Amino acid sequence: MNNKSVVITGGSQGIGFAAGVALGELGYAVVLLGHTKESGIAAAEQLQEMNIDAVGDGANVGDAQEMNELASRLGPLAEPDVLVISAGVMSAHMSKTLRTTSEEWSRVMSTNLDGAFNAIRLFTPGMVSRRDGRVVSVSACLGRFSGPGTSGGLAPYRVSKAGLNALTRNFAAETNWGARGVLVDAMCPNHCRTNMGGPHAARSAREGAETIVWLATSDLAQRQSQVNSSEAALTGLLWEDRAIVPW
Ligand SMILES: NC(=O)c1ccc[n+]([C@@H]2O[C@H](COP(=O)([O-])OP(=O)(O)OC[C@H]3O[C@@H](n4cnc5c(N)ncnc54)[C@H](OP(=O)(O)O)[C@@H]3O)[C@@H](O)[C@H]2O)c1
Repeated sequence: MNNKSVVITGGSQGIGFAAGVALGELGYAVVLLGHTKESGIAAAEQLQEMNIDAVGDGANVGDAQEMNELASRLGPLAEPDVLVISAGVMSAHMSKTLRTTSEEWSRVMSTNLDGAFNAIRLFTPGMVSRRDGRVVSVSACLGRFSGPGTSGGLAPYRVSKAGLNALTRNFAAETNWGARGVLVDAMCPNHCRTNMGGPHAARSAREGAETIVWLATSDLAQRQSQVNSSEAALTGLLWEDRAIVPW
């Protein structure tokens, strides 16, 4: 045990679950959150079988009331050292802007963007007051305003991830770019073999989670020594494979 803890939304499977295994192996106590309490508990049982200190629970991340109740149930576990925001859904196939229904727009925004806000609102005040913490949002390069982010289609998904990137940047500024001990970053895991990514993606979920673990465990000095960059502070950024990606 390293006496640190992590809360992971979308921790019941895929990239969030893989991040939980990796951080658990480093000695973190792990809280895995699924869409339902049952999926979170089932995932936590898998970590417990690996001798990792794990708890599972769940709620709809986009539902503010359900999330408030979840945080109350978790008690002190709702004040982790690290928050990983991995809960996410993909847009329906063919969801160009003019082919997207308002229901589909709301479904994706609710999980990918409202859910991230609810997680930050509930699970980061402790780290802000302790002046020590890490927030890692699992975003996507499809949410960029440059490169592959600008080719259209999948409108709800792309815009939700662009919003998540903006939320990351804004919260990083509000926590003074790491000067108050809390580092806030977004990352792209690349295409991974998960329920969302499908069976033919190039990467395993564990490979996709590697940069999450690095962001969760590194401080500004370590990042400075490992990353070739002229950025004043190496936080409040979008990362892929431990490298900064333009927004
Ligand atoms: N896989 C890729 O290739 C890829 C690429 C780029 C970015 N990403 C991003 O990586 C993140 C994780 O993706 P993944 O591939 O690991 O997906 P996944 O295997 O489909 O897992 C999605 C996770 O989100 C949870 N979830 C979904 N809707 C939720 C809701 N409304 N409330 C609470 N939890 C909810 C699921 O819970 P249940 O298990 O209970 O359903 C599950 O734990 C996502 O944000 C995704 O956009 C993935």
